[in-house]
Amino acid sequence: MGRLAGKRALITGAGTGLGAAMARRFHAEGARVVVNDLDPGTAKLVAEEIGGTAYAADVADSGAIRLMFEEVARELGGLDILVNNAGIGTQDEESTARFNQKSLAQAAEVAAGGPVETHLDRTIELSDEHWRRMIGVHLDGTFFCCREGLKIMSPQMSGSIINLGSIMGTAGGGGLPDYCAAKAGILGLTRSLAREVASRGIRVNAIAPGWIETAMTAPVGDIRPLLEAQTPLGRFGEPDDIAWAAVYLASDEAKFVTGQVLSPNGGWHMSQ
Ligand SMILES: NC(=O)c1ccc[n+]([C@@H]2O[C@H](COP(=O)([O-])OP(=O)(O)OC[C@H]3O[C@@H](n4cnc5c(N)ncnc54)[C@H](O)[C@@H]3O)[C@@H](O)[C@H]2O)c1
Repeated sequence: MGRLAGKRALITGAGTGLGAAMARRFHAEGARVVVNDLDPGTAKLVAEEIGGTAYAADVADSGAIRLMFEEVARELGGLDILVNNAGIGTQDEESTARFNQKSLAQAAEVAAGGPVETHLDRTIELSDEHWRRMIGVHLDGTFFCCREGLKIMSPQMSGSIINLGSIMGTAGGGGLPDYCAAKAGILGLTRSLAREVASRGIRVNAIAPGWIETAMTAPVGDIRPLLEAQTPLGRFGEPDDIAWAAVYLASDEAKFVTGQVLSPNGGWHMSQ
């Protein structure tokens, strides 16, 4: 019998990357999965592949998210697992390339013993719009989905919520202030909620991945060898490395686990 046999799951941002890998593993372990994504096309493809349901909605839109959860409650008759995975990267391609060049130049200056004359200067360039969208998708989105998901899970007196943080939520990442702030916020939300809803038998945990091979990390380009060298296991992770962590936290194997951060990161960060 599958580790998630009979469970009903909703995964946000599951049209590609880590979310799609989780959707496939959840299905293989016996769960019924609703595949949310901003992109209706990718959500539909994954849902068709696993015999699930696709639902296109922007997690940063509280009205759309309320409607999605109402529909999920009608279709599935309850909800056992919610994975708040939808997310966006920090920069467009052009600014990523510029940022990477600066990072490499700065690393070379440090390695040469200085002086350091290259500065990342990301925060002073960050627009209000960019900051708000980053916080909107990650932090508002996680909150909106937790709130609506809890409306279904609370009367059930059971459920497992998994929020996607990042090693950047605790370690900090120079030049990624918006992303790091959003991910740190998600860890705080996870711990507070875990205490709040424990009395209802609902568990809330976070996964904080290290560097994983997806579209989100593709733009790292030239700095990839540096990131791999900083990772004791010497490589980027595969989406399945995260999907297996999610299967565990979603399953009854983790029935005594709440308020925790599980961080598959190849040793990049030794403790959360
Ligand atoms: N890949 C990594 O190395 C890594 C590391 C740490 C944390 N994470 C986190 O894991 C999660 C998944 O990342 P990924 O690498 O699979 O990224 P990805 O870009 O491959 O996939 C993200 C998915 O989320 C969807 N999405 C984006 N905005 C959305 C919105 N507003 N509403 C609904 N869906 C939306 C996208 O369409 C896409 O399908 C993110 O929260 C990310 O921050 C990723």
